[in-house]
Amino acid sequence: MRFPGGPIMARSCHYRFVGIRSLVTRCRAVVLPRFGAPEVLQLRDDVDVPQLESRDVLVRTRAVSVNPLDNRVRCVPGYGRSIFEPLLPLILGRDVSGEVAAVGPRVRSLAVGQQVFGALHPTAVRGTYSDYAVLSEEELIPKPDLISHVDASAIPFAALTAWRALKGTARIAEGQRVLVIGGGGAVGFAAIQIAAANSCHVVTTCGGQSTARALAAGAEQAVDYTVEDIELAIKGKFDAVLDTIGASETERIGEAASLSDRYGIAVGLPMATAILLKKQFQYRYSHGIEYWWTYMRADPDGLHEIRSLCECGKLSIPVDKTFPISQVKEAHEAKDKRLIPGKVVLELD
Ligand SMILES: NC(=O)c1ccc[n+]([C@@H]2O[C@H](COP(=O)([O-])OP(=O)(O)OC[C@H]3O[C@@H](n4cnc5c(N)ncnc54)[C@H](OP(=O)(O)O)[C@@H]3O)[C@@H](O)[C@H]2O)c1
Repeated sequence: MRFPGGPIMARSCHYRFVGIRSLVTRCRAVVLPRFGAPEVLQLRDDVDVPQLESRDVLVRTRAVSVNPLDNRVRCVPGYGRSIFEPLLPLILGRDVSGEVAAVGPRVRSLAVGQQVFGALHPTAVRGTYSDYAVLSEEELIPKPDLISHVDASAIPFAALTAWRALKGTARIAEGQRVLVIGGGGAVGFAAIQIAAANSCHVVTTCGGQSTARALAAGAEQAVDYTVEDIELAIKGKFDAVLDTIGASETERIGEAASLSDRYGIAVGLPMATAILLKKQFQYRYSHGIEYWWTYMRADPDGLHEIRSLCECGKLSIPVDKTFPISQVKEAHEAKDKRLIPGKVVLELD
């Protein structure tokens, strides 16, 4: 298991040489020693970098984005605490954009010096808020040259979530009607663009400040949920509906984690499965609807499509504000207090 730690020492990195490759053994990282307010986050100078497994890639991080998951894991009582609490201290952060610093012996698709972007699994313990992040080969892909590290770091976690929901679970196809609830958020905005790029007819709900952006990104209708009754404004049937918000008849994505936190993994996971099965049965037999919860997961096919869409300008997630990693507490506070509506990115020099 990869695990951060070690005493605080000087800022400089320490190197271990493996064959012809030099591996960093310690580096700067933001550590979460306990759940709490942004003040609990500690920028440490001497956090261990684990040895690379055979398919691992060491990335010299240039930018990481702040996802809602980071804030929810950090806050009391700690989303996902049934998994994370025994593993504290954690390093938060899922997305990364940076440069390959070293590769494990069985890595074939990436080489030292390449510019890459990608995202870790939601349950990874050693996240990307670090000068050096460790991801598996399948979690990374070369970064398009025209996209900056800041812009690239905003994309993979949200876009992979949207891609898996639409392409992996709903299996959207050309000409279908797709409804995206929450098109103003990163996952929803990525979903609009992925569905539009797959020649679907997209309708979305979002706040008034996001409607123009949603329409420009390919939505045919953008309903402002703050002033309109979405049930009256949205007409007709849909082949797929992605709900990133959690309407009264559905749940927030990731309910299994909440139930595990409340009742423990042994009870929570079977309970979540039972609830899902019950809902699937109800929706199938009363409305003919297939109902699923979906999770972000590394997917090389998804990353390839996301990269291609980014390269030809069909997929981007706007970054509202960047902070240096030294201001990670301010960045989290801004997201906690909803001072910044869109994506926040942390830059690492
Ligand atoms: N299960 C997984 O693997 C996974 C992965 C990624 C994310 N998630 C979850 O998915 C959710 C969305 O993530 P995200 O990164 O897209 O979050 P985000 O970028 O913070 O998006 C939130 C946005 O949703 C919009 N919104 C709020 N209430 C709404 C409503 N009633 N109807 C329509 N839109 C509304 C708001 O934008 P506007 O007001 O501008 O429209 C808000 O800024 C979060 O709960 C996150 O934790 C789960």
